[in-house]
Amino acid sequence: MNKTINNIALIGFGYWGPNVAKNIFLNKKFTLKAICDLKQSRLDKANLLYSQFITYELDYQKILADENINSIAIAVETSSHYQIAKDSLNAGKHVYIEKPFTSTVREAEELKELALKNKLILHVDHIMIYHPCVQRIKKMIHSNELGELLYLEAMRMNLGQIKKDVSAMEDLAVHDLSIIDYLTDGQMPFYIKAIGEKKYNPKESLTFLMLRYNNFIVHIQSSWISPLKERKLIIAGTKKMVVFDDIKSSNEKLIIYDKGVDVIAGEDIEYEDYAVKMRVGDISIPYIKEEDALFNSLDHFNDCVMNNIQSDSGPESAIRILKILELANADMKKQI
Ligand SMILES: NC(=O)c1ccc[n+]([C@@H]2O[C@H](COP(=O)([O-])OP(=O)(O)OC[C@H]3O[C@@H](n4cnc5c(N)ncnc54)[C@H](O)[C@@H]3O)[C@@H](O)[C@H]2O)c1
Repeated sequence: MNKTINNIALIGFGYWGPNVAKNIFLNKKFTLKAICDLKQSRLDKANLLYSQFITYELDYQKILADENINSIAIAVETSSHYQIAKDSLNAGKHVYIEKPFTSTVREAEELKELALKNKLILHVDHIMIYHPCVQRIKKMIHSNELGELLYLEAMRMNLGQIKKDVSAMEDLAVHDLSIIDYLTDGQMPFYIKAIGEKKYNPKESLTFLMLRYNNFIVHIQSSWISPLKERKLIIAGTKKMVVFDDIKSSNEKLIIYDKGVDVIAGEDIEYEDYAVKMRVGDISIPYIKEEDALFNSLDHFNDCVMNNIQSDSGPESAIRILKILELANADMKKQI
């Protein structure tokens, strides 16, 4: 393998694939060698952008047979992730794969073992953990600036894009679950409850997921049938509260509220001497350098390949997230 340049090929050039291709192309540590899609029309589109630089294939097996390619980026529908990732790992390629990792925990565990056995890097694009605002929130939690976590409330909604092979929860809540996994260093909830509606789709296009962790609770709303586009996360701590609004422009995404509730007398809410006071302080918007989370995610994948280190969004965290989604799906099934 060339130790300085990561020769990579992309499989899947639909809606998201072009973003992955662009960020690979912009990163000089990679050489984008090939793009593959089942549809000639998508390859024609790619050809307009990268014509002279790369090759185009309809059949991904041809890419896997190319010994000059050492990494594969997979941006196809979730239902095809497992087979293509398995074939890639069996062909000795490092794998960058889009979220959600696989359709089942069993598939994810199999891929994790295969990567370990073949000594290959497996990186799941849990893009939000590479977002500078989320990284800033993690620093605030670790330095105790927020105090103890009280709750997280996440809203990810829009009108569409309805996907047939995943629910809105599997497609959207996976982002919020990856943020929580990252912020809490992999804590798992001990209580999982979900309700959803299968409107216009064989899978849920609207879900409400509720989780209870040791010291805090979580509510995650995921919807493809909303009049509003929202990408919002509220994180409330005992000292401060933070709102991360990913729709806002880059210098307004993170707002820190020095607000909270102080206990001013008594400790036990059963007794009358118990009293609380609302604390209202400054509202601040920290300066956060603008960075592209997808670029960062791909760059981290490259670091892992070049230095043979495990990805921060490797299969372990992806499996924890898929386990939560499977339990939430099982809970939704019980209600039908
Ligand atoms: N990280 C993010 O924020 C983010 C955002 C959007 C989508 N995604 C993920 O990206 C993936 C792709 O989503 P999308 O919206 O682009 O889907 P899409 O349906 O628009 O595109 C998928 C493409 O893959 C191609 N394809 C399918 N099977 C193939 C095969 N065997 N060989 C070659 N090409 C094949 C299809 O022809 C299609 O062009 C999904 O896993 C999705 O969850 C991630």
